[in-house]
Amino acid sequence: MTTDGMLRLFTLREGRQEKMPLVLLHGFPLDHRMWHDVTDLLAGDRTVLAPDLPGFGASPTGPDIARTLSADVATPSVDVMADGVAAVLRAEGVERAVVAGLSMGGYVAMALLERHPDLVAGIGLVDTKSTADDDGARAKRFEVARTVRAEMRVDAVFGMRTSVLGATNRIARPDLVERIERWIRDQGPEAVAWAQEAMADRPDRTRVLEGYTGPAVVVVGDEDELSPVPAAEHMVGALREAELVVVRGAGHMTPNESPEPVASALATLLRRADRAAVPGQA
Ligand code: MLT
Repeated sequence: MTTDGMLRLFTLREGRQEKMPLVLLHGFPLDHRMWHDVTDLLAGDRTVLAPDLPGFGASPTGPDIARTLSADVATPSVDVMADGVAAVLRAEGVERAVVAGLSMGGYVAMALLERHPDLVAGIGLVDTKSTADDDGARAKRFEVARTVRAEMRVDAVFGMRTSVLGATNRIARPDLVERIERWIRDQGPEAVAWAQEAMADRPDRTRVLEGYTGPAVVVVGDEDELSPVPAAEHMVGALREAELVVVRGAGHMTPNESPEPVASALATLLRRADRAAVPGQA
């Protein structure tokens, strides 16, 4: 789907009109393609949508999206990503959806929950965290942003082709290392820099989770070194209605390292959101 000046929204699966869609938000520095492994395993009756976040894949840059939304173009922000997602969903007639995000996509899902709560009928937080960066992590992001802009290449984030995988799959799955490297190589330096600055600026959204009463699932690979199990447990502790799914032998990229339990966790979340949408059945 294309809507001028908005994020590019891909239909990964065309489902039944009366069923609430599933919206999948990708991680950094990737694009919507990382969700195909999971979508292939979901039942075919549900529409599955996945935008490319600002500057990634086929989407306009962060400043372009902010300009379209009449937001402050000077400030890279996860809020701009969330507002961009809300705008394209509304433009496509989506009023309510179950939203799941991996890592950076999870930050965007939590921003959506805070800024556009009416849109979110259920939330899936996959290998992500609700806390903000500490000073060291923030400084590292600004350094990466400076480097990719100076070099006009994304080599500074190539290390993620292995660091996002669990220790087991870094060795056992060279096919995945190669695929993730290809996805990273397809992204532009400006998108990478803007997203790093946006993530550095994100607030702690634990309180947003504390205020949310709808269905939720938190998924984490037990070998995730970037958003480890304690970060997932922290979110589950904050949420009222959360299920925790720990995926054995997977790292940060559970949707690709171990798509079956991720698809099954999302299918359960969708059923819970369907029930919650029917009065008296929550
Ligand atoms: C991701 O996978 O999206 C990144 O690890 C997010 C981050 O850098 O915090």
